[in-house]
Amino acid sequence: MADVTITVRRNGPFRVEGPIKLVDADGNEYDLSGKPAISLCRCGGSVNKPFCDGTHSRIGFQAAEAAVRREEQGQPAAPLTSGSQTQGAPGKAAGDQTVPPPKPRTEM
Ligand code: FES
Repeated sequence: MADVTITVRRNGPFRVEGPIKLVDADGNEYDLSGKPAISLCRCGGSVNKPFCDGTHSRIGFQAAEAAVRREEQGQPAAPLTSGSQTQGAPGKAAGDQTVPPPKPRTEM
């Protein structure tokens, strides 16, 4: 069985390498022929979703794991630029130390 590697890029996309099948919400398959790897947007800013188009860099996207780490170290959140977002999947980023996922919100 061929290996698929998904790398969480620091404050960037999910890099997916290996033979995969990517389908949209209706089950339609994306044509990935000739592409040994793809990057999937996790900042929400791409105009070419589900693929990353580099917008994360322009909007100063800070992944959740980085924001949580800063907060736990008593550091203020990184300054945000206009239109930036701070969402992302929790967990371990490539080359990062293990970071626990953010605590779920309990307020209503
Ligand atoms: S992660 Fe790159 S545009 Fe969203």
